[in-house]
Amino acid sequence: MEHPLLLLCTFLIFSTYLTTTHSLTIPRLSPISEWEKTLQDPTTFVASDAKEFYYNQTLDHFNYRPESYTTFQQRYLIDFKYWGGADSSAPIFAYLGAEEALDNAPSNIGFLTDNAASFNALLVYIEHRYYGKSIPFGSREEAFKNASTIGYFNSAQAIADYAEVLIHIKKTLHAKKSPIIVLGGSYGGMLATWFRLKYPHLTIGALASSAPILYFDYITPPNSYYDVVTRDFREASETCYETIRKSWSEIDRVASQPNGLSILSHIFNTCNPLNNSSSLKDYLYFLYTIAAQYNRPPRYPVSEICSGIDGASSESNILSKIYAGLVAYRGNTTCRVNGPSNVSETNFGWTWQTCSEFVIPIGIGNNTMFEPKPFSLKLYANECKKHFGVLPRPHWITTYYGGYDIKLVLKRFGSNIIFSNGLKDPYSSGGVLDNISENLIALHTVNGSHCLDILAENKKDPEWLVEQRKKEVEIMKGWISQYYSDFGAFK
Ligand SMILES: *[C@@H]1O[C@H](CO)[C@@H](O)[C@H](O)[C@H]1NC(C)=O
Ligand SMILES: *[C@@H]1O[C@H](CO)[C@@H](O)[C@H](O)[C@H]1NC(C)=O
Ligand SMILES: *[C@@H]1O[C@H](CO)[C@@H](O)[C@H](O)[C@H]1NC(C)=O
Ligand SMILES: *[C@@H]1O[C@H](CO)[C@@H](O)[C@H](O)[C@H]1NC(C)=O
Ligand SMILES: *[C@@H]1O[C@H](CO)[C@@H](O)[C@H](O)[C@H]1NC(C)=O
Ligand SMILES: *[C@@H]1O[C@H](CO)[C@@H](O)[C@H](O)[C@H]1NC(C)=O
Ligand SMILES: *[C@@H]1O[C@H](CO)[C@@H](O)[C@H](O)[C@H]1NC(C)=O
Ligand SMILES: *[C@@H]1O[C@H](CO)[C@@H](O)[C@H](O)[C@H]1NC(C)=O
Ligand SMILES: *[C@@H]1O[C@H](CO)[C@@H](O)[C@H](O)[C@H]1NC(C)=O
Repeated sequence: MEHPLLLLCTFLIFSTYLTTTHSLTIPRLSPISEWEKTLQDPTTFVASDAKEFYYNQTLDHFNYRPESYTTFQQRYLIDFKYWGGADSSAPIFAYLGAEEALDNAPSNIGFLTDNAASFNALLVYIEHRYYGKSIPFGSREEAFKNASTIGYFNSAQAIADYAEVLIHIKKTLHAKKSPIIVLGGSYGGMLATWFRLKYPHLTIGALASSAPILYFDYITPPNSYYDVVTRDFREASETCYETIRKSWSEIDRVASQPNGLSILSHIFNTCNPLNNSSSLKDYLYFLYTIAAQYNRPPRYPVSEICSGIDGASSESNILSKIYAGLVAYRGNTTCRVNGPSNVSETNFGWTWQTCSEFVIPIGIGNNTMFEPKPFSLKLYANECKKHFGVLPRPHWITTYYGGYDIKLVLKRFGSNIIFSNGLKDPYSSGGVLDNISENLIALHTVNGSHCLDILAENKKDPEWLVEQRKKEVEIMKGWISQYYSDFGAFK
């Protein structure tokens, strides 16, 4: 029960469900936490007038068993403020929710509110089933009870939900001719990609931000994630990288001394006394990986940690330097290491998703600042079996298209998708970084981090970020004019 590897746009929750880097690495996307709020410049949060609605959603889109007809209330939000209206066939931007409650989406996904006015767009945000308020079977407890209730929790059902909700919205608003662009970040960006592939008649294009859709089926080498984390730290500071690299054996050395664990507990100001060194290591792994993944302005956590480590007084030993790095990033107003933690719905839900249908193989190679730990599908599968009684099965793309060669599938069947990435994001190693065709476009930036482009604009944004967003908007405008001209031709 330690720290997960995150993958969320917004963030990852600090508690952990079943994984630790020292036992098993089940990668994690994540939701906004109180912690992340402190990382962001509050000016990047935007006000939203989104109103809440519920759709009577079908439990099972793919079967005709009696229980398939069961319904649940699925939450979605609409912001009407910028919309040009059905009469002008003004577009609809649909944010596809990912592995977290939808509550913060309108204020987080500033890209939509920033650009809605210039498109006269309606903004729609749809919550993913089994998260937030969109829970089947009446309660979280029932929904997660056993294999027969949790089995409806998967991405194929989720995008079928989105299709139904979007059809419903168009119908209710008499917006038959309004084109829809779907958008998502991280896992949500994967959903947007798959949605555009599977429901091309419902959307004219997709913006997939930081979506590591090549991280399945070993297309991306398993060690890539931690290689990028290491590179980020090394680029920030060679001495910082060296200190971190040497710290693991130092932790082991101290831990093996008589009284060693209480010395470590003291140095790291732990919430509870350590009874092994792996909870400390797990925490530090987690700290460094999220810092790299969310290495965003204005704080740039990697630099923050490194300035703590490098700035510690010269007589400090390695471990005091490491603690100084932790404090520089997270402060010292409360203890951080080995504290109480809750299993969040994101932790639980995403662990289920990565155990049932998405194995994202992530291991640690020999040339990082971490201790090597190759990915083992066998250990991973055992852990899933133990916790959920399931073994991972191939992703539905595999059965749908005869193999998870997603680039080939996209090349043959896909169009109008933007894949945006920031190369400092460790998950960008599993992203689409080359243009696949004329209208399957990769836009990446050297210094960007996880989902940075779909957050709100800020006056202090660097030029490369401004450029990336500008290109995205241009391409989306192109899709819309194309649609209007095709649509005119149909009449
Ligand atoms: C949802 O749909 C089901 C099946 O069509 C129906 O029985 C139920 O009354 C509906 N619930 C609501 C709240 O509209
Ligand atoms: C799972 O839970 C449901 C709802 O409580 C129950 O009806 C069903 O019998 C359970 N199934 C199994 C396999 O335990
Ligand atoms: C380890 O420490 C935790 C508190 O952090 C305690 O609850 C647990 O019993 C300890 N386990 C062992 C094996 O000492
Ligand atoms: C280390 O201690 C934590 C509690 O402090 C416990 O949850 C964990 O299982 C322990 N890990 C090992 C490898 O003993
Ligand atoms: C907390 O950190 C600040 C610097 O970040 C330092 O000035 C202060 O002495 C620290 N307090 C404690 C209790 O360590
Ligand atoms: C865990 O959840 C409970 C109930 O929501 C909350 O009161 C408590 O503060 C949480 N603890 C942590 C460490 O987040
Ligand atoms: C990493 O090191 C281990 C142990 O020294 C070795 O067995 C393994 O082949 C190395 N892997 C790579 C990719 O170099
Ligand atoms: C992909 O093509 C677009 C132009 O359509 C260009 O702006 C972008 O830089 C290209 N991406 C890469 C990775 O070459
Ligand atoms: C990326 O950031 C580094 C400093 O962190 C800077 O030196 C470099 O010029 C930046 N690269 C680009 C392309 O902006």
